[in-house]
Amino acid sequence: MLTWDDEVTPTPSKPVSSGLATNREAMHSPLATAPASVPQPALRTLDDGAIAPAAVTPIVTKPAAAAQTAARRVTAADKRIINGQTDVNQLVPFKYKWAWEKYLSTCANHWMPQEINMNRDIALWKDPNGLSEDERRIIKRNLGFFVTADSLAANNIVLGTYRHITAPECRQFLLRQAFEEAIHTHAYQYIVESLGLDESEIFNAYHEVASIRDKDEFLIPFIDAIMDPNFHTGTPETDQTLLKSLIVFACLMEGLFFYVGFTQILAMGRQNKMTGAAEQYQYILRDESMHCNFGIDLINQIKLENPHLWTADFKAEIKALFLKAVELEYRYAEDTMPRGVLGLNASMFKGYLRYIANRRATQIGLEALFPNEENPFPWMSEMIDLKKERNFFETRVIEYQTGGALSWD
Ligand SMILES: [Fe+2]
Ligand SMILES: [Fe+2]
Repeated sequence: MLTWDDEVTPTPSKPVSSGLATNREAMHSPLATAPASVPQPALRTLDDGAIAPAAVTPIVTKPAAAAQTAARRVTAADKRIINGQTDVNQLVPFKYKWAWEKYLSTCANHWMPQEINMNRDIALWKDPNGLSEDERRIIKRNLGFFVTADSLAANNIVLGTYRHITAPECRQFLLRQAFEEAIHTHAYQYIVESLGLDESEIFNAYHEVASIRDKDEFLIPFIDAIMDPNFHTGTPETDQTLLKSLIVFACLMEGLFFYVGFTQILAMGRQNKMTGAAEQYQYILRDESMHCNFGIDLINQIKLENPHLWTADFKAEIKALFLKAVELEYRYAEDTMPRGVLGLNASMFKGYLRYIANRRATQIGLEALFPNEENPFPWMSEMIDLKKERNFFETRVIEYQTGGALSWD
């Protein structure tokens, strides 16, 4: 079991629209990135997604065929994160080893929500004297944001980001990340179900609670922009649109909008309350930390390969988005904590959000927005650095069914 006996030292994810419409191109694009300058693979993607031989296959002599095959081979040096000209179906040769290593790390951290025992949480929630009204409000507001935030995240990856990224090792990470977002949605649903909360209240909070709706309305235009089937990268303007969307998603959604909620539930766990939910959040925080770091590496690599996108105007636009996101997340902190609770209060989060915003800004090469902010919650860094070895497996209440244990009768 994880332990929560460290002393608490507070001092030192409009109605969501659209974005979710089906994007046929996203499903059919793998060979569409083959460039004019590289011989096309002798395959084409049919409208129904099947792969068929190219309609016209030139008759070539043997030496010419060999030359064409050689020319088709992918070299690592030719790979690019966006607007790449190489075949996205070939994972190797690797160019972006950091992406592959992060993929391996996320797989090593695999977990499932139902493996965590929720019995103590259920008993505490049902006890009329178990939690204060302010503590119950925090839990419901948290779940109200997160139950839909991670679905937004998953849809953004699958229907938006994925088709614009032309490095297969980065796509491999995105596939794993999408599954982890599904696990997170599952975890929040599992907590709602375990506690017997009003599902319609929680799952509609993103329509009905202003501080949650405002965060989602901030995010959705950046998700919608890259999900539009008519959107393609390849010009400075559209490449900047994609880069902006990646920054909003990694630095402001996963890297900032999640942090008030994470801190609140983990603070509860440190006081030995809602320890099952806190444990789930701890694993989610570890996953999100990896998603955020991957997104930042992706952003920095795109900048490196396309320095012309990083203009003064673009940086000013990004800076304004950071300031807006800090303001929205602070309003969410105020709404979830109208009074001090758990040794926390909203004004402590002003400093924390500024501290995190500085960190995200400098990670992508911007100047700190709020110089000299200190971290009021240093214990959160330990939570992020959670090691898998920390007795993780002892907490499991369900064992995986292995191939050998399956019955095929
Ligand atoms: Fe997530
Ligand atoms: Fe994520």
